[in-house]
Amino acid sequence: MNIFTCPVCGEMLDFSEKSAVCRNNHSFDRAKSGYVNLLLSKHMGKAVHGDNKLMVRARREFLDKGYYSPLCEKLCQTVKKYASDNSVILDAGCGEGYYTSAVKETVSAEIFGIDISKTAADYAAKRSKNISFAAASVFHIPVKSFSCDVLITLFAPYCGEEFHRVLKENGIMIMAIPSESHLWELKKAVYDTPYKNTVKPYELDNFEFIKSERISFDIELNSNQDIQSLFSMTPYYYRTGRKEQEKLSLMENLKTQCDFELLTYRKS
Ligand SMILES: C[S@@+](CC[C@H](N)C(=O)[O-])C[C@H]1O[C@@H](n2cnc3c(N)ncnc32)[C@H](O)[C@@H]1O
Ligand SMILES: [Zn+2]
Repeated sequence: MNIFTCPVCGEMLDFSEKSAVCRNNHSFDRAKSGYVNLLLSKHMGKAVHGDNKLMVRARREFLDKGYYSPLCEKLCQTVKKYASDNSVILDAGCGEGYYTSAVKETVSAEIFGIDISKTAADYAAKRSKNISFAAASVFHIPVKSFSCDVLITLFAPYCGEEFHRVLKENGIMIMAIPSESHLWELKKAVYDTPYKNTVKPYELDNFEFIKSERISFDIELNSNQDIQSLFSMTPYYYRTGRKEQEKLSLMENLKTQCDFELLTYRKS
């Protein structure tokens, strides 16, 4: 089963081992891992190509150690509530596929993932052979309109119009965001003046807000590598000076709060 469409003309794509082709003969390469590259250079934005190899690897290493498993479990429970075996689920901004593959293990639905980072799509495809991945932007999703029962968006850019378009009538959107105190102790250890996260109002255009669930727990990291991996997964990574980097490089232990919210919406 396929929901991916041609990013040039919008026709459905036909998949073979090495490529995906539409009826107008627009052709897109599939990597060895199986993901298909549906990125058009005009959709890639100026400098932003998503997570680079270093960040993807750090995310893979960190998540595979299970530090965020309470969030993953809650996500899977929530997906299970809304998805059946015939459901179609899209993970928009799926990263290296940690959560995507966990969802696949929970429900035997058809699962698709997109990420603008080719490295992330490649890692995700290598992890799960029974999920279809594409390199694509959430701002131009090459997916058939009204094709998804559930869309998940976890710490990734939001595009309400596109998410609304690809969801079926009454489709469900599940979103994870960092809450107020997420990684508070890490921020305190690195910054002179740390700030708590501000959580925006839950209301979104064209979606009915169903509920928010708070998932808070502590994690204990006992290696500098894990601390650095965690830090490189955060948005602060991009705006860290030499002084902060030095503090980070000296840390061997860290106990910090993880504080998330899982928000559920229905397409209206
Ligand atoms: C913080 S990571 C989260 C990844 C994954 N959802 C997770 O929680 O492990 C954000 C992801 O969004 C991707 N990304 C950034 N801009 C994007 C865009 N315009 N379209 C699709 N993905 C994008 C990045 O490449 C990165 O993999
Ligand atoms: Zn085409």
